[in-house]
Amino acid sequence: MQTAKLYGIEHVKFGKSVDIAFERFQAAFKEKPDLVFGIVGEELAFEKEVMFDLSKATRPMIIYLKSRSIERMDFYSPMLKEELQKFLVFLVTPKEELKKEPQEHLMILGIRNINVGHIKSAEERVGLGAVDDLKLYESSLENFNQTLDNVLENKEVDYLDLQFNVSNIFESLTNRHQELLKLTVLKRYDQVTFAHILNVSVLSIFFASKLGLPREEVLEIGIAALFHDIGKTHVSRKIIKKTDKLTDEEFEAVKGHTVFGAEILLKYVDTLGQLPVLAAFEHHLKSGFQGYPKMPYPRKPHLGSAIIGVCDIYDALSARRSYKTSMPPLVVYGILLKEKEKLHFPELVDDFFKIMGVFPIGTLVVLSDSRIGVVRLQYEGDIFFPQVEVVYPADKREVLNLKGNTAGLKIEKSLDPFVEGQPYVSLI
Ligand SMILES: [Fe+2]
Ligand SMILES: [Fe+2]
Repeated sequence: MQTAKLYGIEHVKFGKSVDIAFERFQAAFKEKPDLVFGIVGEELAFEKEVMFDLSKATRPMIIYLKSRSIERMDFYSPMLKEELQKFLVFLVTPKEELKKEPQEHLMILGIRNINVGHIKSAEERVGLGAVDDLKLYESSLENFNQTLDNVLENKEVDYLDLQFNVSNIFESLTNRHQELLKLTVLKRYDQVTFAHILNVSVLSIFFASKLGLPREEVLEIGIAALFHDIGKTHVSRKIIKKTDKLTDEEFEAVKGHTVFGAEILLKYVDTLGQLPVLAAFEHHLKSGFQGYPKMPYPRKPHLGSAIIGVCDIYDALSARRSYKTSMPPLVVYGILLKEKEKLHFPELVDDFFKIMGVFPIGTLVVLSDSRIGVVRLQYEGDIFFPQVEVVYPADKREVLNLKGNTAGLKIEKSLDPFVEGQPYVSLI
């Protein structure tokens, strides 16, 4: 399923995976002519045994299957290789293209030796899509967390698994990107570097895909973004956590995270590819020898590094850290516009705001008629005029499309949900 999703069903790698899977099924059928897999809660079960020890590895797949209403799979001997292949193709076909019940589809495809059971009750299905996309996203992040630990402990990394996780993040994003972008806003409120790299990765994936880069490149960028600050693990915690202004010496130490990061990731070129190394090394480079690390010659970064670089500055500015309240979106916008001239790809800053809008989804704003609302939807290209839901005063609640509204309403300013916006948070 992973190879089908990542390489497409025409690719030789998919063919090989089917061969391997089929061989394993053949071997298993020798012991038992019918193999029944089920989903219990969020665990995989074989026959009646719940495979708790496989939990971490299988969860993204389980949630994926559940999001497609599949909670049971039966395989019977003599299953043909062709049936297995068709079944896998069916599993990776976009949900929207499947109009019938899963089992009905299998019949149409001529698959006789595989049955699927689906989630039956109507209540269970309500809202399943949204919840499961979020769950899929979260469990993929959890698995990514594990991979990150492995890299830090010099252990093996399963690249296919990592790609699968990032592609799940990617998929949840394309299905419900507006919802999930909200999550990146929420995650800003905890103060861990981890939240930062996840934000940057989610932003980079979204940004790169909106820029129209091919899927494989978007995935590579997403993975590279997840590792862009890995070098910070080699910089003293005291400095990373310091809330006051850094001394020159301390700042020099922080700059080292680019080189450290590249060194760590060089060991993983075979599995992770070159982009993570480049991105770790280049994401703070600026034109004309500004930025860091200091280079002996001018170096133009890879486009992927530049995309990650823009998302990195954006997140660093917007994030609420323990020692400062978050910067208002308009200020962030202003700073990035100034910063733009120093970048190797200045046009990326314009593209970024064209896609994201100046006021991210979930931002509390004051409108020009003094009403208070929350940003719900962005219109690409209309960076100052998103859709806003008015939440205060209570009798003036409504959903407004600021884009082209006849009353000439606009956003006056944003409110910090921890300071002046706090009384309105419960209304969102
Ligand atoms: Fe960095
Ligand atoms: Fe960063």
